[in-house]
This record gives sequence, C-alpha cells and structure tokens, in this order.
Amino acid sequence: MESSGDERSLRDDEAERERLTRQMYSQLRYPSLDPQHKASYENHRLLIYRLLGIDPTTFFQGKIILDGGCGTGEETMFLASLGPEKVIGIDTSDGSLESARNRAKEAGIENVEFRHASVLDDKVFADGTFDYVSSLGCIHHTPRMRQAFDNLCRMVKPDGYLCTFLYNSFGHFLYNLECDWLDRVAGDDIDERIRLARRYLDWRRGTSFRREGIPSSWDARLFDKYAVLYRDSLTLKQLLGWYQEQGLEEVGSYPMRFGDMIAAYRAHSGDEMQSIRGVVARVLSPLATTSSGSRRWVWRRRVWMQSLLFLLGLYDYGGAFRVLAQKQAKE
Ligand SMILES: C[S@@+](CC[C@H](N)C(=O)[O-])C[C@H]1O[C@@H](n2cnc3c(N)ncnc32)[C@H](O)[C@@H]1O
Repeated sequence: MESSGDERSLRDDEAERERLTRQMYSQLRYPSLDPQHKASYENHRLLIYRLLGIDPTTFFQGKIILDGGCGTGEETMFLASLGPEKVIGIDTSDGSLESARNRAKEAGIENVEFRHASVLDDKVFADGTFDYVSSLGCIHHTPRMRQAFDNLCRMVKPDGYLCTFLYNSFGHFLYNLECDWLDRVAGDDIDERIRLARRYLDWRRGTSFRREGIPSSWDARLFDKYAVLYRDSLTLKQLLGWYQEQGLEEVGSYPMRFGDMIAAYRAHSGDEMQSIRGVVARVLSPLATTSSGSRRWVWRRRVWMQSLLFLLGLYDYGGAFRVLAQKQAKE
C-alpha cells in the first residue's frame, strides 16, 4: 500500500531526529565516567542491585547478558566483572562504542563485546537469547519507547530478567516543562537548545554534578538532558503494566522507599561527607534502614520524597526509576 505524504514526512522527521541523536551521543559520549572513580561507581551499583532485591555477587554468574543502549560501556563492564559467561553491549552511537571498546581493551576484560545495533531492531537477536537484559537510560531516547521495550522483553529467556531504568513522568515534571519550552523556541536545533539551556536552565552552573555517586562532566549532563530530541517518560504504574502485559513479574523497584532514597542520597554525597550534603546525609543516616525489596509508590509518599529531594538539592533524583522483573515461563 502506498504511504501518504504526511506519513512519509513523519518518517523522514523521525529518521532525521534519530540521526541527530546518534550524532549527538557520538560527539558527547555518555556517560564517559572517569575510571579514577571506578570503585565508588561499583559500590554504588552494588548497593542499587541489593536494593532491587538481588545479591549481585552471585546473581550474574554464568549468565548471558545484553546491555541495550550501553553508551560508553561502564555498566556493561561492571556486569562483566560479576562473573557472567558473556555480556554484549549494543548502541547506535559509534563514538560511544569506540570508547567502550577501548576501555574494555585497556582493562583486559574478555567476556564483553560491543556491537552497533538498535534496541528497536527486532532481527538483531533471536527470541529468548539472554538470561538477563539490562537497558539503562536508553529506550526513552528512541522514537518508539514501547516498541523498544517489547523488543527487549522478546530477547529475554523464559525465567530470565529485564532491568530498565527509565524517566519518571512525575519526577520529571520540572524537566519536562523545561524541554517543552526548548522544543517551542529552538525545535531540533541542538546548538540553539544548548545555548538556551546554558543561559537559562543551567542554574547550578559551575557546581559539581554527581552521577551514580561520582563526579561527572557538567556538559554531559547538559547535553544528555537538553540536546536529546527524544525523551519520553512514564509513570511507574504504566511501566509495571507494560511488564505485566509481556508476562514479566516485578522483582524489585528503586527508588521506591524512603530508606532507599536516603541510602541513595548518602551514596550521592560521596565518601568525604564534608559538604552540606554530607552533613545532611549523616543526620538522615539513622533513617536509612537497608532492608531490600520494593514497594510501589503511593501518591503521598511520592510527593513527600520529591519535595524532600528537591529541598536537598537533588531535584531530579526521582526523575527516573529502575525496575527489575522476571519473565514467567509459559506452562
Ligand atoms: C543516556 S545514554 C545511557 C548510556 C548508558 N546506558 C548509561 O546508563 O549511562 C543513552 C544511550 O542510548 C543510546 N541509544 C539511543 N537510541 C538508541 C537505539 N535506538 N538503540 C541503541 N542505543 C540507542 C545512545 O547512543 C546513548 O549512548
């Protein structure tokens, strides 16, 4: 069937935006974490997996893993260090893949491989190829988040796991407003978006930014936030619905509980604990009981946490959430 002119033009717009996204992430390779902070990063990640309810030191052993949208490969390599048989990282940014390959080579990691492929490509791996699929911060930057999600689920083996980290519509309330404004005044012009973002939205200019508990480049944050042309988000309830429709049952979610948030806040405050954040973290410490497991958001708790984090200077911390779920084997 012939496609209409409108459909063709929508497809062309989409292809052009995907090209700009690839180009942007090839120039600004994300997250490009400084290897000097590897130990803090790994501690932070171990904590997060424990909060999701698994023991990361044994859970990944012998598994075949996919990291969908691996960027510069930090998580891919971290997973590779936890004893799996193999981890494959895929991404559409050649620049990021180049960094990832170089880092893996320098570190002498052998059970990892990086390939240029899209999370939207339903031919790239057969159904049920992986024991564990991880996709952190990627599919909300594609034009069809739901299609990408379904494709990730397809590649998980029965009894296997999918872990996603996705933008939270509620936590991203302010951010979504900022981006709506940028869309209106700058459209797809990435240079202009960044110019405006630096001028009007970069209100913590010059201060350090911590990502996953370690210092990261401020530019990385600015580009990843304001230059990407696709940035979808959803509520936890919607995401849990998607998992359910695909036959995956939630194992754990984060950040969900007050104690989890405080533990994360402590991790974000760094080891030195000397800043104002450090003092606040120390005062809050007794509230951070570390029992794992998940609890779904209830409205009051969500507003409470978001306000608290806003006051503590982590206004977008609840801006994304992580859900780990297991595929139920068919009877
Ligand atoms: C915000 S970065 C996240 C990187 C890494 N997973 C992390 O958590 O730091 C998003 C990544 O998704 C990649 N990406 C965007 N669209 C993609 C697609 N369709 N398939 C695979 N990767 C994609 C980008 O190139 C970029 O490296």
